[in-house]
Amino acid sequence: MSKKLIYGGDYYPEQWLDKPEVLEKDIEFLKAAKMNLVSLGVFAWSELEPREGEYHLEWMENIINRLYENGISVMLATPSGAKPRWIAAKYPEVLRVTDKGERNLFGERHNHCYTSPVYREKVRIMNTRLAERFGKHPAVVMWHISNEYGGECYCELCQQAFREWLERKYGTIEKLNQAWWTRFWNHTYTSFEEVEAPSSLGEKSVHGLNLDWKRFVSDQTIDFMKQEIQALRDAGAMQPCTANMMYDFQGINYGKMQEFVDVISWDTYPLWHKTDDILVAFDNGMQHDYMRSLKQKPFLIMESCPTATNWQGVSKLKKPGTLMNASLQTIAHGGDSVQYFQVRQSRGSFEKFHGAVIDHYGGMDTRVFREISQVGEELEKLAELAGTGVEAPAALLYDVENRWAMEDAQGPRNKGLFYHEAAVKSYQAMKQYGMNVDVIDMDKSLDSYRVVAAPMLYMFRSGIEEKLRAYVENGGILIMTYWSGIVDETDLCHLGGTPHALTDVLGLRSEEIDGLYDWETNTAVPVQENALHITKSYTCSHLCELVRPMGAETLMEYGEDFYAGKPALTVHDHGKGKAYYVCADMEAEFYTDIYKSIFLKAGIQPLLSDIPEGVEVCSRCTEEYEYIFVQNYSEQPVKVSIPENGELLSGQYDGRLAGRSSIVLKKRKDGGVYEV
Ligand code: GAL
Ligand code: ZN
Repeated sequence: MSKKLIYGGDYYPEQWLDKPEVLEKDIEFLKAAKMNLVSLGVFAWSELEPREGEYHLEWMENIINRLYENGISVMLATPSGAKPRWIAAKYPEVLRVTDKGERNLFGERHNHCYTSPVYREKVRIMNTRLAERFGKHPAVVMWHISNEYGGECYCELCQQAFREWLERKYGTIEKLNQAWWTRFWNHTYTSFEEVEAPSSLGEKSVHGLNLDWKRFVSDQTIDFMKQEIQALRDAGAMQPCTANMMYDFQGINYGKMQEFVDVISWDTYPLWHKTDDILVAFDNGMQHDYMRSLKQKPFLIMESCPTATNWQGVSKLKKPGTLMNASLQTIAHGGDSVQYFQVRQSRGSFEKFHGAVIDHYGGMDTRVFREISQVGEELEKLAELAGTGVEAPAALLYDVENRWAMEDAQGPRNKGLFYHEAAVKSYQAMKQYGMNVDVIDMDKSLDSYRVVAAPMLYMFRSGIEEKLRAYVENGGILIMTYWSGIVDETDLCHLGGTPHALTDVLGLRSEEIDGLYDWETNTAVPVQENALHITKSYTCSHLCELVRPMGAETLMEYGEDFYAGKPALTVHDHGKGKAYYVCADMEAEFYTDIYKSIFLKAGIQPLLSDIPEGVEVCSRCTEEYEYIFVQNYSEQPVKVSIPENGELLSGQYDGRLAGRSSIVLKKRKDGGVYEV
């Protein structure tokens, strides 16, 4: 197959089976928009098995054949994301139970018990049927496993599986008691049988229990997914598998899930035009980078919306140019597809007003379809990018287990710790400087990076303290912040000084942390002749940590309150590297300015220098070529200077970039003149 970027969307022909003329039209639309793939069967179980054991796969085969004849491939879904009515009526155990012990009624989707042997068996049989029928079909190029896995179930089957999971983890109840610190409030367990999942009617305050329950739910979901994939494999289907992940989703440890899928995919629905679009772009870009970094390989966008997204608070239209920018942003960050939810707008029910490739009007002469077709054309021009990599000199440590533990704790600020925001501020500063960034969790290696930002690394796990130490010793630049290295993997506090095991690397020890009321702020003031030549003061809020320097040099200090004069930003030379420590939740501008000074001082080259406000720069590469994406998210045209030895693969450039527009530039990596 020739190299191409995937372009398509979620396709639900089962909603229109009684209208063959509509299905014929769909194909015309797909071809006109230059689409080359659809996701099929995501919610089609009731059409595939209308009654228990009665299978109807012929309609799907007809659709797949028609698509194939027209050059359109299929990503075939397993339908477990929504169960048919008959299964719930006959086997109530497939329905989820709430933390209060109430069993749900049938309804909605994404709500089955992940433990239920009946559900697992019914899914296995269905997947087997699909694999037997379509596992060798030339149109079917990939499997789309279920849909947006998530949620938890508290039924007795899940509770028992949790107890077994704990027993495998701890071996003895004494070890569990120790890890969960259960003598506190008299909560000692005498056997695993006594353990119940956290509940608003029961136990909520044993943090080790809460944390392990989240880990269990994640593992159980992954286990369910593995069984789905195994059924396909056992029936001979060998196409790659993917499971669509979600934006900033905290219900599953995707870092663990990634091992069991062949390709990462995710669904992106940013709130364009709600705030400044460049901020939306950075936030969304960080998620793209997180997804790419899971496997350090190109990822797919499984869903995005061509225009207004009806479940959001306000269904905002995408302003002209935004669809193109958002689509190219995916490619810029290492994605190999653009796909939409939904190909044809459904006629009734919950998503009838959700944006679609084909709307209720049903013609091609719409603003949205025109833009969709333009995206199709650009993606064809960029086909050679498929499969290319991203080289990132910087990494942001962003870890879901860390978040579970930190946000569950009481203190230091129950009104909001702003972890995600702190991560975004660091990420954004690196992007504003013009670097590619990997977003990784604590299990990943740090060896390839020049800079590692570690905001609010409350929990140290996976030996991260040793990895960070070695990283700095070998010449890396670490930027760590307040509220780091406080607890271990089971959420027990480290004794003997924090950030745990890194006080000598950072050259300081954290002594206290002050939670600020919403209306309070402090300032960070530069000290005279500091090593970064900082001259401005910055506001900080929410959390101010008080540290005792033990070798670290103070670059900025607090301006107010009883801790005025104490360090607010420090640096320490350790081995061949440097370790910075940001003591408080600083405003975004602090990160933009300070990171820039740090990178300049370290001689780290940006992809482009002097990037104007509102613009994002990314790159992908092969051994020989570099592809630079310059994207203007502001409404106004901007001046940018781009390297002269390149070829413009996409977009318009005359020294300026029009408002809401992008260019893609191809140049040789060795700096030689590009020859067409
Ligand atoms: C996704 C989901 C799709 C569709 C879409 C609408 O989260 O996977 O099935 O509901 O949202 O934006
Ligand atoms: Zn259950």
